[in-house]
Formats: sequence, structure tokens, C-alpha cells
Amino acid sequence: MLMKKIPFHLLPFTVSFLLCFMLISLTMSVTNITTDQSALLSLKAHITHDPQNILATNWSSATSVCNWIGVACGARHHRVTTLELTDMGLTGTIPTEMGNLSFLSRLSFHNNSFYSSLPEELGNLGRLKYIRFGNNNFVGAIPSSLCYLPKLEALDLSKNMLQGYIPETIGNLPKLKRIYLDENGLSGSIPSTIFNISSLQVLDFSDNQLSGSIPATIFNMSFLQIIDFSTNNLSGPLPSDMFYHLSSVQELYLSWNHFFGALPSNLFLCKELRILSLSYNNLEGTIPAEIGNLTMLNTLYLGFNNFKGGIPQKIGDLESLQLLSLPQSSLTGSIPSEIGNLTQLKWLNLLYNNLTGTIPSEIGDLHNLESLILGVNSIRGLIPSTVFNISMMRNIALSDNHLSGQLPSSIGLQLRNLEYLILASNEFSGVIPSSISNASKLTTIELSLNSFAGFIPHELGNLRNLQRLHMARNYLTSRSSSSELSFLSSLTNCRNLTSLVLYGNPLNGTLPASIGNLYLLLFSP
Ligand SMILES: *[C@@H]1O[C@H](CO)[C@@H](O)[C@H](O)[C@H]1NC(C)=O
Ligand SMILES: *[C@@H]1O[C@H](CO)[C@@H](O)[C@H](O)[C@H]1NC(C)=O
Ligand SMILES: *[C@@H]1O[C@H](CO)[C@@H](O)[C@H](O)[C@H]1NC(C)=O
Ligand SMILES: *[C@@H]1O[C@H](CO)[C@@H](O)[C@H](O)[C@H]1NC(C)=O
Ligand SMILES: *[C@@H]1O[C@H](CO)[C@@H](O)[C@H](O)[C@H]1NC(C)=O
Ligand SMILES: *[C@@H]1O[C@H](CO)[C@@H](O)[C@H](O)[C@H]1NC(C)=O
Ligand SMILES: *[C@@H]1O[C@H](CO)[C@@H](O)[C@H](O)[C@H]1NC(C)=O
Ligand SMILES: *[C@@H]1O[C@H](CO)[C@@H](O)[C@H](O)[C@H]1NC(C)=O
Repeated sequence: MLMKKIPFHLLPFTVSFLLCFMLISLTMSVTNITTDQSALLSLKAHITHDPQNILATNWSSATSVCNWIGVACGARHHRVTTLELTDMGLTGTIPTEMGNLSFLSRLSFHNNSFYSSLPEELGNLGRLKYIRFGNNNFVGAIPSSLCYLPKLEALDLSKNMLQGYIPETIGNLPKLKRIYLDENGLSGSIPSTIFNISSLQVLDFSDNQLSGSIPATIFNMSFLQIIDFSTNNLSGPLPSDMFYHLSSVQELYLSWNHFFGALPSNLFLCKELRILSLSYNNLEGTIPAEIGNLTMLNTLYLGFNNFKGGIPQKIGDLESLQLLSLPQSSLTGSIPSEIGNLTQLKWLNLLYNNLTGTIPSEIGDLHNLESLILGVNSIRGLIPSTVFNISMMRNIALSDNHLSGQLPSSIGLQLRNLEYLILASNEFSGVIPSSISNASKLTTIELSLNSFAGFIPHELGNLRNLQRLHMARNYLTSRSSSSELSFLSSLTNCRNLTSLVLYGNPLNGTLPASIGNLYLLLFSP
């Protein structure tokens, strides 16, 4: 034929296009449903454990693969488009033949015990939209071929044992919306190309060994809602430019890394933020008043950093806040009364700072508060009486301060949900109210190193959940007129009591015979 003699590149465009098309259709026509069947039978042969015997009984050559469990075929081409074998307890490896399922669009082996490495041939599956391989035992590197899947929207390789670098070519995935590589052993740096995927919505690289800094150049990521880089070995300052391009970010997790430097002011442009977690880093500088601009925040973790200065009054603008955690952050000054505006707040943790002043009475306005943790500071004065009216309260932890005053006589009737009452190392005085026994969920009472006086109430024996009772170094005595320490007999009802510390009190008397029933007790000094 004449055409044979004409060099390929001299052919008119339409003809060469036609030839290419014929070549492609030729290779395509080589695969058919029989190809899909042999690929799936190869997969079946690579599964060494199938606890429910599903594949063994159901994946039979006698029936069409389209009827097999976990398999779905497309109406048009009658080829396998979906393979979903999730939560089936399967052990096995992925054979290279999987790369022949050329019409596959959804592929999930999520939550099984697949092991060995991921075959490069998966990169042949050009129609793939979803890959869910999370929660298996895959090892080795992320195949670079996965970075050339033009339709891939979701890639979940989380909770495996993958190692090596995240390929730079990951930025070639033009449709990617969600990527989960968390809980692996990936190292190297975050490829800067990841921020070139403008369709990205969820980016989870947490729990790996990634190092280096966050790439400085970030493009307009107007769909990105969740970024999780927590628990890695990342360092450097937080790039200011980054936040300028994250107009939709709702959840930002950067905790448990080595970031240093100040909070960049552009961070406060991310007005959609609901969750901001920056704890366990080496961040410095003050917590700026602009934090109050993040009015959608419901969760704020900033603890275990090296901030200076105080808690800004503007914190009171965060009216959706449910959790405020600022422990061990070198904070000084007093707790701003504006904190009383945070009426949704359930958890307030300011443990281990250098806070002074008193507990603002406005804390008593926090009707949803469950945990009030202000221990290891230099806070003085009384616990505002309104705090004892917060019926949701489960955890009062105020030890190691200079707090004083008495516990209200009805404490146990007011705080019926209380589980932890931790007031050790303060200057409290007065009696231990017997009503405390009405707070029947109490597991922990720590009142050591105060000036409590009077009788140890026998009613403590009603606290069936009590595990720890520490009242060392006070002025407590036993009620009984006889020489027996009878309150100890009542404590034998507390079957979960494992730690009882009473030394340093003027307790004179004999141990009751029933003390032997406190058999779980670990006598502490
Ligand atoms: C698939 O193609 C092979 C040849 O490549 C052929 O032998 C077989 O019959 C075809 N199967 C179906 C179901 O079309
Ligand atoms: C496999 O399971 C599917 C779905 O439960 C069922 O329709 C089909 O008949 C089963 N095939 C065999 C061979 O058991
Ligand atoms: C994983 O699958 C097993 C069954 O093999 C199931 O019991 C377990 O709940 C699943 N885990 C998750 C997190 O879905
Ligand atoms: C499928 O894949 C395997 C290994 O990747 C290969 O040897 C085989 O020729 C492929 N083609 C068909 C039609 O099975
Ligand atoms: C981002 O993509 C553009 C083309 O769309 C390219 O020019 C640029 O080099 C890419 N940047 C990175 C960091 O990959
Ligand atoms: C980012 O992209 C969105 C929509 O794609 C657009 O509305 C917005 O103006 C862009 N922002 C910047 C800073 O380029
Ligand atoms: C963490 O990163 C630092 C450099 O920032 C490096 O010296 C160190 O070896 C890394 N540690 C691990 C466990 O990767
Ligand atoms: C914070 O909000 C105030 C107005 O409430 C505005 O003047 C300021 O520019 C905002 N700052 C940032 C960093 O968004």
C-alpha cells in the first residue's frame, strides 16, 4: 500500500490521529470481561486467609464476575468498574494482574490484612477515581505510577507500614480531592507540588516521620478544608503566605512537631477555622488579640509551646468555643473575665502556666463546663461560689495554687456529675462536707496539703466508684469516740479504692478489723 511508504510524521494530521486511535482501540479490544475474570481469579489465588470463606464460595467461575460479592460492572461496557472488599478480614497480596482491570473506577480493600508492596501496575488503571487501601499491612514505597491517574479523586493509604518519600509527582493528580497517608512510616519532606492541586479538600499526612518545613509557596487552595500534618518531625516557622491562600480551611492540625517562631498574622485570615491544633511545638511570641477573629472556632489547642504574655481578652469573642486547651505555655497575667462569654465551653485547661490573680466569677456563667483545669499556677482567692452551680461539671482540677476558702456544705448535691475533685496543695480550710457522698460518680478526691480540719465523713463509704482518696497533711480526725478509726470501716465499701493516702493528719486510733477488706489498696506513703 502507498501509505506504508509515507513516513509516519508526514501523514496528514487526521490520518495519523486515526492510526493512533486504531492502535489504542486495538490494545483496548485485547481486554474484555474474561481479562477481568482472570485478574480477579488471580487476586483470589493471592488471598491466603478468608475467615468468612466469601471468596472461596462466591467467587466461582461458573457465574459472571459481575455477580461476585464486592464486584460491580458498568452497564455500557459490561466490565468491572467497582471492587470493594472492605472489613472482610482478608489476608493476602495484590497481584500485578490487578493492573488489567482497565475499567475499574472504585477500588477498596479498606480494613483487611493485605500485606507486601503495592504493584506499580495499579498505575495502569486510568479510570480509577477512588483507591481505599487504608488499615492494612502494606509495606514499601508509594508507587509513583499512582501519581499519573488522571481521574483519581480519593487516595487512602492510611494506617499501613509504607515507607520512603511522598513522590513529588503527586502534584500531577489533577482531580484529587482527598488524600490520606496518615499512620505510616513515610519520611522526607512534604512535596511542594501537593499545594498545586487546586481541587484538594482533605490533606492528611499525620503520624509519619516527615521532616523539613511546610512548603512556602502555596497556591490558591480555595477548596481545602482539612489539613493534618500533626505528629511528624516538621520544623521551621509556619509560613505566613500559606494561610493567605487557605480561605476555606476548617480544620488545621499541626501539633506534635517542632515548629518555631510566632503565630503568623495571616493565620487569623482563616475565618472558617473550626479546629486549630498547634500544641506540642516550640511556638513563641504572644497569643495575639486577632485570635478573636476566628469566631467559628470550636476547638483550640495551643498548649505545650513557649508563648509569652497573657491570655488575650479577645478570646471572649470565640463564642462557639467548646474546648480551650492552653496548658504549659508560659502564660502570665490573670484569666480574663471575658472567658465568661464562652457559653458553649465544655473544657478549659490552663494547667501549668504562670497565671496569677483570681478565678473570675464569670467562669460560673459557663453552664456547659465539664472540665475546669487550672492546676499548677499561682492563682489566689476563693473558688467563685457560682462554679459549684455548674451541674455539668465532671472535673475540677485546681491543685498547686494559692486558693483558699471552704467547700460549700451542699457540694455533693450541687455537683452530682463530679468525677474528679483535685484541690491538693492549696490553702483550703474548713470541713469536708458529708454531702460529697451524693456525687456518686466521684472516682478521685485529692485534698492533700491543705488545712482541712474536722472529721473524715463516714459517708465517703457511699462513693462506690472511688479509686483515689488522698487527704494527707491536713488537720483531719476520726469521729468515733472509741479508739478505733471507724471511718476506715466504711471505706471498705469502696471496692474500687486503690490509693488511700492519709499521712500527716492527727489520726490517733487503732485500725478496725474490717480494714482487711480494702484488699485492692496499694498503701502509699
Ligand atoms: C475475550 O477475548 C479473548 C481473546 O482475547 C476471547 O478468546 C474470549 O472469547 C473473549 N471473551 C469474551 C467474553 O468476549
Ligand atoms: C454471590 O453473592 C451474590 C450476592 O450475595 C449472589 O447474588 C450470588 O448468587 C452469589 N454467587 C454464588 C455462586 O454463590
Ligand atoms: C474491620 O473489619 C473487622 C472485620 O474483619 C471488623 O470487626 C472491624 O470492626 C472493622 N474495623 C473498622 C475500624 O471498621
Ligand atoms: C494481565 O497482567 C499480567 C501481569 O501483569 C500479564 O502477564 C497479562 O498478559 C495481562 N493481560 C491479560 C489479558 O491478562
Ligand atoms: C504548579 O503547576 C503549574 C502548572 O499548572 C506549574 O507551572 C508549576 O511549576 C507547578 N508548581 C509546582 C510547585 O509544582
Ligand atoms: C482563589 O480562587 C477562588 C475560586 O477559584 C477565587 O474566587 C478567589 O478570588 C481566588 N483567590 C485568590 C487570592 O486568588
Ligand atoms: C527530625 O528532623 C531533624 C531535622 O529537622 C533531623 O535532624 C532528625 O534526624 C529527624 N528525626 C527523625 C526521627 O526523622
Ligand atoms: C481582625 O478583625 C478586625 C475587625 O474585627 C480587623 O480590623 C482586623 O484586620 C482583623 N485581623 C485579621 C488578621 O484578620
